[in-house]
Amino acid sequence: MSLVYAAILAAGFGTRMKSSTPKVLHKICGRTMLEHLVCNLEKTKKIEDIFIVVGYKEDEVKKVIGKKVTYVRQEKQLGTGHAVMQLFDVLKGKAGNLLVLNGDVPLYRSTTLESIILKHLQQQATATLVTATLENPYGYGRVVFQDSKIQGIVEEKDADEEIKKIKTINTGTYVFALPELFDYLSNLTNDNKGKEYYLTDVIGKMVAKNKKVVVYELEDKEEALGVNDSLQLALVTKIMRERILQKHMLKGVRIVDPGNTYIDVDVVIGKDTVIEPFTILKGSTSIGSCCTIGPNVELEDVTLEDFVTIKHSVAKNSFCKQGSVIGPFSYLREEVVVGEENKIGCFVDLKKTTLGKNTKVTHLAYLGDADVGDNVNFGCGAVTVNFNGVEKNRTIIKNNAFIGCNSNLIAPVLIDENAYVAAGSTITEDVPKNSLAIARKKQLVKVDYVKKLIAKFKSKKS
Ligand code: UD1
Ligand code: CA
Repeated sequence: MSLVYAAILAAGFGTRMKSSTPKVLHKICGRTMLEHLVCNLEKTKKIEDIFIVVGYKEDEVKKVIGKKVTYVRQEKQLGTGHAVMQLFDVLKGKAGNLLVLNGDVPLYRSTTLESIILKHLQQQATATLVTATLENPYGYGRVVFQDSKIQGIVEEKDADEEIKKIKTINTGTYVFALPELFDYLSNLTNDNKGKEYYLTDVIGKMVAKNKKVVVYELEDKEEALGVNDSLQLALVTKIMRERILQKHMLKGVRIVDPGNTYIDVDVVIGKDTVIEPFTILKGSTSIGSCCTIGPNVELEDVTLEDFVTIKHSVAKNSFCKQGSVIGPFSYLREEVVVGEENKIGCFVDLKKTTLGKNTKVTHLAYLGDADVGDNVNFGCGAVTVNFNGVEKNRTIIKNNAFIGCNSNLIAPVLIDENAYVAAGSTITEDVPKNSLAIARKKQLVKVDYVKKLIAKFKSKKS
């Protein structure tokens, strides 16, 4: 039978992470370790069903992954062998094969998993063990061979000095023939240093019974890297990050300094876009072609059309249309739509605001809860006063309006088409089309008054 089921072991505490977040939910380039694995398993041909063994903080795990997999509960975390044993009920009576993966190995590619499965099926093995040869094998189970025939696996904790020298490690990935696997699991014992039921012992027991145990040595040993602590998390993150950058560069994105560019796994970037140093692109960010991003830009869930330039700025959950120029030092806080050919400049803070075509907010402004038309010009220091201490109100500004410097638009308020707001105004009432609104005190000039004033001050002082 060539049916293949997949199981991810994700019930453990992840003690060595020293974190209250379950280990498999730590994020790497925008996705949890477990999501990386599930995503790759979904892409892997031949896999029938995905099971996840959950235990520690299982509700959090289920919330992240959702209903696309079947969960199996491991009440007490008594070891990896015990974890796989929990699948007995769901796989009872099923023939086929089981691919087992640890939840903490996020670098496996689906193509590699396919080739592991293929080898197992071709060889009609009882078990296929995936190994890698590491310069520093510390912490991993060592694979013991005799006359190039596999004997079994010894955990680091249980290894003597000779065994510790072995550089071939167990990556924690296996394919087992069903239902045979369960016969071996039910005979496991926990007489080892960790007092755990080790899945690794199954391999030795199969060898002892002359079963066919095949070794699959990984070509790219980085895929084997497991995450047990924060140091390994950083190492794996670095490798994942390099893979993502490479993918974009090969598709025609120019990344000026890959060492200082951070791009999450789901980000999309069009060709001929240049990413300058210190750029962080997160979540579902999508960037068009021929854009210039950075230096010093952080975008999260932001969509940029083609030909957008943004530097030294932060934006979240926003949309920027073609040809806009943003920054330096702009902040698109949330739900902002920057219109075509806009100019958003220095120290401009935008929130829940939509701007029409060719509008300019060039310096020192705050626009919150505003609907702005085309060709509107905001002078330096313009502010929509959207919050009265209790509620948020909207400001509507129609096409071709001109908002003078340092004006406060007290919402709710409408500035109609072609209207002008004089600099320094505090606008509390709607301004009709084609009208000029001046809401400031008229200027008073006292000719030659300065001499008098100084004399007055001096006499006061003496
Ligand atoms: C395991 C292997 C080791 C291998 C290494 C590869 C065993 C005994 N050892 O060691 O040979 O080199 O992986 O990375 O299998 N888990 C459960 N329930 C449990 C215990 C663990 O679901 O009762 C899960 C954990 O959440 C984790 C995975 O199994 O995702 C592996 O557990 P971990 O403690 O990290 O095993 P290692 O010590 O790394
Ligand atoms: Ca591990």
